[in-house]
Amino acid sequence: MIIAANLKTNFTRKETKQYIQELESYVTNNAITQEVLVFPAMSSLDENNTSIIVGAQNAYPTQEGAFTGEIGETHLNEFAIKTILIGHSERRHILGETQESIVAKFNYYKKLGFKIVYCIGEPLPKREAGEQEMMEYISAQYEGIDTEYENLIIAYEPVWAIGTGLTPTLEDIASIHKKLKKKSKAPLLYGGSVKVTNAKEVLNVLNVDGILVGSAALYVEHFCTMISYAEELSQ
Ligand code: PGA
Repeated sequence: MIIAANLKTNFTRKETKQYIQELESYVTNNAITQEVLVFPAMSSLDENNTSIIVGAQNAYPTQEGAFTGEIGETHLNEFAIKTILIGHSERRHILGETQESIVAKFNYYKKLGFKIVYCIGEPLPKREAGEQEMMEYISAQYEGIDTEYENLIIAYEPVWAIGTGLTPTLEDIASIHKKLKKKSKAPLLYGGSVKVTNAKEVLNVLNVDGILVGSAALYVEHFCTMISYAEELSQ
């Protein structure tokens, strides 16, 4: 299974280093065989001698250049980062990224062979508008994306479930994951208010290949507990 932590705009470089070290010792001491990913804040990217996969939350589709406030391929290469999160709902809805700009980013980092965690998910009005409208909205997020890319991981994250403590029912997760698996065979994570208290049951849902965790992952011991659930379920 794939267990990923999106640290968002949290932790300094020093705190991130400590977080990754604690995670690394947990994974080593418990002989964890799951794939563990961490996405630190941009300024906390660093040299990490670790078995944990460290990825970037964002990067511009460029090697370098005049794109104020952005980083590019060169800056990821400095730390041998080969994993990137693309299409997260906070970037789509707060930072205003369009599907077109997301596709440009996807294609750029795909060409470089990056592992891409590609996020999709519907806002509340789309869910409330019924199954058909919701699926149309989600399908539009697949437009321009190579769903057969070998290093692709998809994360289904309903926007209304992110950081809210709300989650779809397990039946709803199962139903939508089943539909999404028909669009792509890539590993499919669930994200949105996954906590220690619900991680095990979410991981146990058919067609859920892992979880993408935000706020609850900020407590390293909670994140480690979720990793242990995945390890247990994979036995
Ligand atoms: P959350 O965030 O776990 O805080 O809901 C998930 C995410 O944004 O990836």
